[in-house]
Parts: sequence; structure tokens; C-alpha cells
Amino acid sequence: MNSRVIAAIFVAVFMIGVSAAFGADYDHEVKAKNISFAWKIDGDKLLGKMSAKTDGWVAVGFNPSTKMKDANIIIGYVDGKDAKIYDHFGEKATGHSEDTKQGGSEDVTLVSGVEEGGMTTIEFTIPIKSADKLDGVLSADSDTVLILAYGDRDSIKARHKYRTSMTVNLGTGAVK
Ligand code: HEM
Repeated sequence: MNSRVIAAIFVAVFMIGVSAAFGADYDHEVKAKNISFAWKIDGDKLLGKMSAKTDGWVAVGFNPSTKMKDANIIIGYVDGKDAKIYDHFGEKATGHSEDTKQGGSEDVTLVSGVEEGGMTTIEFTIPIKSADKLDGVLSADSDTVLILAYGDRDSIKARHKYRTSMTVNLGTGAVK
């Protein structure tokens, strides 16, 4: 094997290592004030990354009927090195709690959680077509209302410091 081939193999292995260290690549991203949400639809899963300028919780919700009501909410925080993530449902316009407390199931998988330099970033996966009726079905080719929020404490009972909502197409990333 000549030295060029060896160098090419070395670079390829290095690049694979770098991309693994930085987690999944995402296809789309929306940003609001001090908070962002990136995602990718991968087969029957949505890979999500939520990031906010906070040492407290960060959350994304899908398809509320009004404010937080009926939204499939994914909320998490990093306490020290320990990341927590929860699958919640907006049971009213101004409140949410665990799907499991409302007859549903926990359907979020934590991928990673990091709190660094005043930013909290959490990666997760959720099913596109969850078996839990509280989650609803995500669509890649019609409008999805996203709600994004963060709080300044590692407690999912603490209200948001900031919240916003927007309408996106999860398939194309277009924001309305
Ligand atoms: C942690 C506990 C939470 C509490 C106690 C709480 C409480 C409230 C209350 C009282 C309101 C109405 C007043 C206002 O507009 O600020 C509200 C609105 C809102 N919340 Fe929450 N919230 C919580 C978590 C969340 C989460 C996790 C999200 C997003 C994933 C979220 C998204 C929103 C949005 C988008 C609105 C405003 C909707 C609108 O006016 O159209 N909230 N929340």
C-alpha cells in the first residue's frame, strides 16, 4: 500500500471518529431567541437535538391544539453529568405531565445530554408513528406546529423563562 492510500484511510477513519463524537447529523434546524431545535427523519424515527442558553431544562413540543394543550412534549435537563429526558403530554393549555400518568407510555430515548458554557444540549429519538395515542403521529409532508421552551432550573415543574411556537414542514424544514 502506498503512502497516499494509507493517508486517505487515516483521514477517512479520523472523519468517522469526528462525526461519531459530534453525534448524528441533522437535516433541518429552527432557531429562536437562545434556543434551537435540529432534526432528521430517519426511517421510523425522528432524531432531535434541542439546545438552549440555560443551565436548566429545555423542551420541544409537537402539535398543540392551543398553547401547550395536546402537545407531545419532550423535556430534559442535565444535572451535573446526569441527563434526564421525559415524554410529556400537554393535558391543558398551561400544564403538562408524564404520558405514563395519563394512560400513555414513555416513548423517548435519550441519545446524549451536555451542559457546557451555559448551554444545555440534549439529543433524543422519538417514533414517527408512536403506538401511544397521546404522542400523535408526526408527518413529514404536512404542517407541524412546534413549541420550543426553556427554563432556568433543573426541574420540569419550573415554568419557562422563554417559550415560542412556529409552524414547520418536518420533511423539508420550511418554516411558515
Ligand atoms: C414546566 C412547566 C410549565 C409551566 C408551569 C408552563 C406554564 C405556562 C403558562 C401559565 C402559560 C400561559 C401564559 C404564557 O403565555 O406564558 C404557558 C404558555 C406557553 N407554554 Fe408553557 N409551561 C410549562 C412548560 C412548557 C413547555 C415544556 C413548553 C414547550 C415545549 C411550553 C410552551 C408554551 C407555549 C408555546 C406557550 C404559549 C402559547 C401561546 O400563547 O400561544 N411550556 N405555559
